[in-house]
Amino acid sequence: MRKGELLYEGKAKRVFETDAAGVLWAEFKDSATAFDGVKKGTIKGKGVYNATMSAKLFSVLERAGILTHFLEQVEGRSLLVRRLKMFPVEIVMRNKVAGSLAERYGLGPGTELKKPILEYYLKANALHDPMMNRNHVLVLGYMTERKLSHVEGEAARVNRVLRNYMRRRGLELVDFKLEFGERGRKIYLGDEISPDTCRIWDAATGEVLDKDRFRFDLGAVEEHYEEVVRRLTA
Ligand code: TMP
Ligand code: ASP
Repeated sequence: MRKGELLYEGKAKRVFETDAAGVLWAEFKDSATAFDGVKKGTIKGKGVYNATMSAKLFSVLERAGILTHFLEQVEGRSLLVRRLKMFPVEIVMRNKVAGSLAERYGLGPGTELKKPILEYYLKANALHDPMMNRNHVLVLGYMTERKLSHVEGEAARVNRVLRNYMRRRGLELVDFKLEFGERGRKIYLGDEISPDTCRIWDAATGEVLDKDRFRFDLGAVEEHYEEVVRRLTA
């Protein structure tokens, strides 16, 4: 498989065409941003860690019967993926209070939730990805009822599968972001599943093992990304 023309460059990855129809090459970068791009930096090795963790977890999800765009990991930092038509909606799933949920509602980080909370955000950089409710998604026409319901069900299944998988490895999945897209009549999970897009705490000590180490200058960022990948792939 050969890398072709650059299709898109984002804050954390580059996506290229390939010589195979319907297959894209997603290359994960070491550069990191936070707080809507205000904070910038580099996390050495992050590209390989994020590609490796995504490859592993997409495979775990596929085995559980969830369709994902993942095909194969190549050259360490890249994934071959199915080309999808992405929905412009980010789905955030939360199992415990953290991040913007803690700030917006004045809640203590780490507070247990009675059940997971699902949130919707519009993917629109210029608008700073505004939060939406279900009505915004439907009435503004970003997704149809049938597709949104399907995605909500898949997001809940992804949460159950990943939480169990991580719990067995001493990790707690606090919250995460998913992006879905369609290809023909099928809906697939796309994008990535990494310490950039998940909050993961050590289940025993509560130690932060994800991108919050970079956001809040907690130190040893590379070492903690490596530790998460080590536990997930052991
Ligand atoms: P939040 O608490 O900042 O809203 O983030 C919730 C989860 O979503 C957290 O695991 C990080 C992830 N996330 C992204 O992957 N991309 C983003 O742009 C944002 C804001 C959050
Ligand atoms: N990834 C987003 C940014 O680049 C937000 C974040 O992760 O904090 O700003």
